[in-house]
Formats: sequence, C-alpha cells, structure tokens
Amino acid sequence: MSVIRFCGVKKSFDSSVVLDGLSFEVENGEILAIVGPSGTGKSVTLKHIVGLLEPDEGTVEVEGDPRIGYLFQSGALLAWLTVYENVALPLKETTRLKDKEIDAAVMDALRMVGLEDSADKYPGELSGGMQKRAGLARAIVRRADIVLYDEPTSGLDPVTALSIHRLIKKLNSEQGVTSIVVTHDIQGALNLADRIMLLKDGKAVAALKASEFASSDNPTVREFLTAMKGELK
Ligand SMILES: Nc1ncnc2c1ncn2[C@@H]1O[C@H](COP(=O)(O)OP(=O)(O)O)[C@@H](O)[C@H]1O
Ligand SMILES: [Mg+2]
Repeated sequence: MSVIRFCGVKKSFDSSVVLDGLSFEVENGEILAIVGPSGTGKSVTLKHIVGLLEPDEGTVEVEGDPRIGYLFQSGALLAWLTVYENVALPLKETTRLKDKEIDAAVMDALRMVGLEDSADKYPGELSGGMQKRAGLARAIVRRADIVLYDEPTSGLDPVTALSIHRLIKKLNSEQGVTSIVVTHDIQGALNLADRIMLLKDGKAVAALKASEFASSDNPTVREFLTAMKGELK
C-alpha cells in the first residue's frame, strides 16, 4: 500500500522549472532513497510532502494523517537551546503532554541515537555527527510514522555515516518507520534502501529495487553510476 503519491507534479521558481511532471509512490514501511545531481529538486520534493511547498500542477497525496519527522539538510538545531530542549520542542509545540511524559519521550529518542549523556550540552559543543544525531532525535521524538531524511550523512566521516545509516535501518525495522532518504552517498543508498529513485530533469528516471539499480541498463542510471564511480566500492 502506498502512503505517499506524487502525480505529475510540476514546480517552478520564477522561470526555472525544477519539478517537471514528477510521479512516484512510496510504499508503507519501505526505505526509499532519492538520488540525483545537486540542484535537481530533491529537497524541493521532500518539502512538498510536508506542505512547505505546493505544486504548481499535479498532486501530492499523503495517506491518512501520519506524523512526519523531517531531518533538515541544514540540521536546524537552535543554538541557544540544549540538546534536550531542542528535542523536546516538537512535543511542546504540538502536543499537550505533561512534563513527565515529555521527559520520557525525549530521553527515549536520545537513547535511540546514543546521545543520552549529551542532553544538557548545546549544539555548538557537539561534533557534526552528534548534531545530525540530535536532529534525528528531534525528527523521531513524536513517534513519527514517516521520516524524511535530507542528506543525513553529508559532511560526516564514513564511520559516523555508517552509524546514521544503522539508525535509519533500526527505526525502519523496529518501529516500522516509512523512510525517504535523500542522499549523495550512492554506496550508502545501495546498502540501505529497499528502492532507489533517480531524479533527473525534474522527473523520476527510474525507481528500482536497490539490487537492480546497480545493474540496470537504463542509460540515465548507467550515466549517473559512471559519474559516481569514484564513490562505489
Ligand atoms: N524557495 C525557493 N525559491 C527559489 N528557488 C528555489 C527554492 N527552493 C529551491 N529552489 C531552487 O530549486 C532547485 C532545486 O533545489 P533543491 O531541491 O534544493 O536541490 P537538491 O536536489 O540539491 O536538493 C535549485 O535550483 C534551487 O535553487
Ligand atoms: Mg538538497
């Protein structure tokens, strides 16, 4: 069953066309990776799912009324709040939970990402990888049904990147979180995702099982893989 459905979505900014009839579906419980050159509209695609942007033409349907977590490309932690306060923010803003319930949920999320000992630190005191994990804790603290990850491992060393991928997988397998991962890390996408979608010229070129993506004979996929060759092990 698909939970997210893009149908012929077009989106332009001024005169530049970013999405040009984008159609794809996300199945319940899957991990879909979206890959493609930078500036092709990957972040723009995610923003349509949460309603930060609206299509000029076409439709974006989200089934039911899921809780959606969003790990922003920029991280977007508030520098003047502690890790604990940053993670508590979505609960304080969107629920009427009591302090004790908030505390339990925040500490649960921090444990999930291995930051329970850094609750009282400020973002500026954390490494890049820890900041990403704090952003991740904030994205999942509302027990998200769907989590959108925008370049969750960019700028991280390979070991830290792997630990983030493990977390994404764990959330998916243990909590059934439907996941969309926008990434430059094609090797990571091949290891992590159930399906990989290549976005090019505002359209989905292919959405293939990860196992079929690497051996696809679609010329655009081959071209992309060749360009990415240095990153494949
Ligand atoms: N709010 C906006 N206003 C104007 N242009 C935008 C806006 N958001 C994105 N764009 C443009 O849309 C294109 C795709 O952006 P983006 O989705 O961020 O690319 P990427 O695939 O690297 O995530 C870029 O050319 C970007 O400059
Ligand atoms: Mg982007």
